[in-house]
Amino acid sequence: MRKVIIAGNWKMNKNLQESMDLANSLKKELSGVKDIEMVLCPPFTSLGAVAEVIKGTGIKLGAQDCYWEKEGAFTGEVSIGMLKSVGCAYCIVGHSERRQFFGETNLTVNKKAKALLKEGVMPIVCVGEKLEERKADKAFDVVKDHVVNSLAGLSKEDMLKTVIAYEPVWAIGTGVNATKEQAQEIHKYIRGLLKEMYDAQVAEGVRIQYGGSVKPDNIKELISQGDVDGALVGGASLKSDSFSQIVRNSSK
Ligand code: PGA
Repeated sequence: MRKVIIAGNWKMNKNLQESMDLANSLKKELSGVKDIEMVLCPPFTSLGAVAEVIKGTGIKLGAQDCYWEKEGAFTGEVSIGMLKSVGCAYCIVGHSERRQFFGETNLTVNKKAKALLKEGVMPIVCVGEKLEERKADKAFDVVKDHVVNSLAGLSKEDMLKTVIAYEPVWAIGTGVNATKEQAQEIHKYIRGLLKEMYDAQVAEGVRIQYGGSVKPDNIKELISQGDVDGALVGGASLKSDSFSQIVRNSSK
């Protein structure tokens, strides 16, 4: 059985105090949740403080990006060792905003994923097509390109530790989520790709999250789909009540 994983991607929101307030309130709201893996991904500047707040709870910490080199003259970058030192168990890589605005490519996503796995941090690798690509009937091709090339060369063991987030770009922050059928269709396709790239065990074992305008009122139907194993939540993760409702509505 794949354990449902709900991650909150706070993006470039929440200063230090706001982050601690949100984490404290989630800690209260979500105490006692056992069947769902919960991950908070605050900005770098809040990671350490949020780690302190959620210490000893079931909530885990994730970063939004990383760099693959261990240390050195890479101004502005944050290493995986640094992320580990503040308690990160997960790290998002290849988010569409990074692909779109910061020159992230499948190659750099692949380097980051491999470096994370080497250090024992689990990558959440984002894939997904843009609106014009969906309109041109290219959604499957784009997703295949992202999956095959972002995950190239990962061992079977590493692949099983990796989470894939299918995030159609047209659904991110737009209020227009993929329908449950659209999500299931792509998730099933990704699982098929994993079977071709690895085997049935990997295909059945890897968790695939959906992301893009997930809200408390649409998570139930999305999570009801056989191949949807959780959600990567942006906007609705910035408020304690909406994120905790999403978590509570996510039981399979
Ligand atoms: P959204 O963002 O929930 O605000 O659409 C999702 C994401 O970008 O991870």
